[in-house]
Amino acid sequence: MTLEGRAALVTGAGRGIGRALAVGLGELGANLVLVARSKDELDETAALVATSAKVITADLGDLAQVAAVAEQAGAVDVLINNAAVPWPAGPTANVDPAAYAAAIAVNVTGVVALTIGVLPGMLARGWGRIVNLSSGVTQVPKFMIGGNAYTTTKIAVEGHSRNLAAELDGTGVTVNIYQPGTVDTSMQTWVREEGSDHMSSATKAYFTDAHERGALLTPEFSAGRLIERLAGDDTGQTWFAVDPK
Ligand SMILES: NC(=O)c1ccc[n+]([C@@H]2O[C@H](COP(=O)([O-])OP(=O)(O)OC[C@H]3O[C@@H](n4cnc5c(N)ncnc54)[C@H](OP(=O)(O)O)[C@@H]3O)[C@@H](O)[C@H]2O)c1
Repeated sequence: MTLEGRAALVTGAGRGIGRALAVGLGELGANLVLVARSKDELDETAALVATSAKVITADLGDLAQVAAVAEQAGAVDVLINNAAVPWPAGPTANVDPAAYAAAIAVNVTGVVALTIGVLPGMLARGWGRIVNLSSGVTQVPKFMIGGNAYTTTKIAVEGHSRNLAAELDGTGVTVNIYQPGTVDTSMQTWVREEGSDHMSSATKAYFTDAHERGALLTPEFSAGRLIERLAGDDTGQTWFAVDPK
């Protein structure tokens, strides 16, 4: 597959899976738009990308900043909504509703708003690929006890994605969901070292064991499993880094 001449916007491109996605898309010839809050990390990613990379710093939890991203990005052919936060963690009775709302703003509203921002251009050109990062927790919501906000946001993203895919059927713009597996990133480190202290002992044990057993996927492997699906015309599907048992 070649993405020569295509523009790909990756959110959360400063590290982890987002960085690996940006580098992988660049290897296929796409010109990148890299979005996150930390400019230094985005600049590091830009230096790794084989093609051109436009760096845009923005907090995707802020609608005005999301609108500015869509405007500054220009024409976008491939949109990967990858950025997300895993917090707040803990028993739901103790969670600050404002922190919950902030997680929804980044993980759900930001995804939807950026999609709305780039969608008119994709529809006008008759081609587009939108992929929204989700999580295996959507299959087993009771798994992440103490991660109610994260679970809720990922299920919301999946509902949004499937409904939008159906709406856009036949337009040339596809919308798919990607579950990246358990990947060795700073999000995993946070869950293991901080978040899981506020989760059930079984949940904490899963994350700790996966790390100790060396069972975490590399960001490059996970990104590659997404990118290899982009050429197809699938829409409304859930793609997996590792097929669920
Ligand atoms: N790692 C896993 O095991 C795993 C498992 C299942 C699903 N996922 C999903 O995979 C995706 C990538 O995860 P990851 O592990 O690579 O995460 P990560 O290492 O924590 O990286 C997250 C990226 O998102 C950006 N980001 C966070 N909040 C943002 C905000 N308000 N505005 C703009 N950018 C923001 C971060 O940059 P700044 O902080 O600089 O803004 C960073 O570049 C997420 O959707 C995650 O839910 C990951």
